[in-house]
Amino acid sequence: MPSTAIPLSQKLYSYINEVIPDRGRGEFGQLSSASDHGTLTLMNGGTLSMQAGVNASGPAGKHTMTEHELVEDIHRLKKEKNAIILAHYYQQPEIQELADFVGDSLGLAQAADRTGARTILFAGVHFMAETAKILNSGRTVLLPDLNAGCSLADSAPPEKFRAFLDAHPDQVVVSYINCSAEVKAMSDIICTSSNAVRVVQSIPADRKVIFAPDKHLGAYVQRMTGREMLLWDGVCEVHVDISLDKMKFLLGKHPDAKLVAHPECPPHILAEADHVGSTTSLLDFVQRDPGHTFIVATEGGILHKMRQAVPGKILIAAPANMENSCACSECPYMKMNTLAKVHSALLTGSPEIFLEENVRAKAEIALRRMMQLG
Ligand code: 13P
Ligand code: SF4
Repeated sequence: MPSTAIPLSQKLYSYINEVIPDRGRGEFGQLSSASDHGTLTLMNGGTLSMQAGVNASGPAGKHTMTEHELVEDIHRLKKEKNAIILAHYYQQPEIQELADFVGDSLGLAQAADRTGARTILFAGVHFMAETAKILNSGRTVLLPDLNAGCSLADSAPPEKFRAFLDAHPDQVVVSYINCSAEVKAMSDIICTSSNAVRVVQSIPADRKVIFAPDKHLGAYVQRMTGREMLLWDGVCEVHVDISLDKMKFLLGKHPDAKLVAHPECPPHILAEADHVGSTTSLLDFVQRDPGHTFIVATEGGILHKMRQAVPGKILIAAPANMENSCACSECPYMKMNTLAKVHSALLTGSPEIFLEENVRAKAEIALRRMMQLG
């Protein structure tokens, strides 16, 4: 059987997609991830198979795509697949730069809700991509790395959450968007760090409230609203590791600096803050506040957009207790996404987010209640 060996390169991607455009996702799955090694051989009848030797973007191949080539090809694939890229502020700068929309959890959910694109590539973590799918049952939602989870979402396994709700019946269940679709489906209303205070204030004063899974955001909302709530015992491993000592040292070195902090931080950090808010709110604050120097207590990825927005101001990341190379706080899950994985996901249509329809539909009710409040 005659066969044509073609190196896996940008040309081949074009060839596959333009010359045999009707190939299904399952077959494209054979091209699979960016770490797949192999020469693709086009057999009679257009079947594709792999032999050792070539890698799309890894070291073993005849052609390793450069960052520039990856970006170019991602733009081409986006058009070809009618896809948009939504990215959280905690993503690597190069991913933020090629995204159609960069925002916080609320902004991203709203962007996912209004898109007309056939495919949403979510450069964020699993619960964010699930949220996009909850709002878009008919669209394809891709997450470049399915292992990009979240310590908060993981702190509330659905079975334990069910048992907790059964033990505390007749309460209004408010869940922070950083939770699984199953937990959303068990909730009455969802909130994000942008609107948590507003969401809780919308609940009649005579109703008892359960707030999950972030106990620090929950405690902050309690302080802001004066509402007693039953808090689930979950935390974000990134925000709880922000070092008070290192932050105070920085404040000593920069006495005029203002501290801005995300409400996932523990109370001892929030007590020092000049402004507390979601990532979008922190970004807005450093733009409108007349101050010149800011210490930023959240994941370090936000500094990319902040530096673009206020190039003349001094922005310092609040360091973590743990020693790391960035002298900032880094979410290991957010940083799992890379340009190569974004490229691979668009090329192969995988990994894709799937949800059981009854879970999705119930979660959508709770999510839409929040979105109506804005
Ligand atoms: P926001 O996007 O609401 O600011 O939350 C940050 C976060 O931790 C996302 O995981
Ligand atoms: Fe989850 Fe914290 Fe990472 Fe946000 S920063 S995705 S809350 S682990």
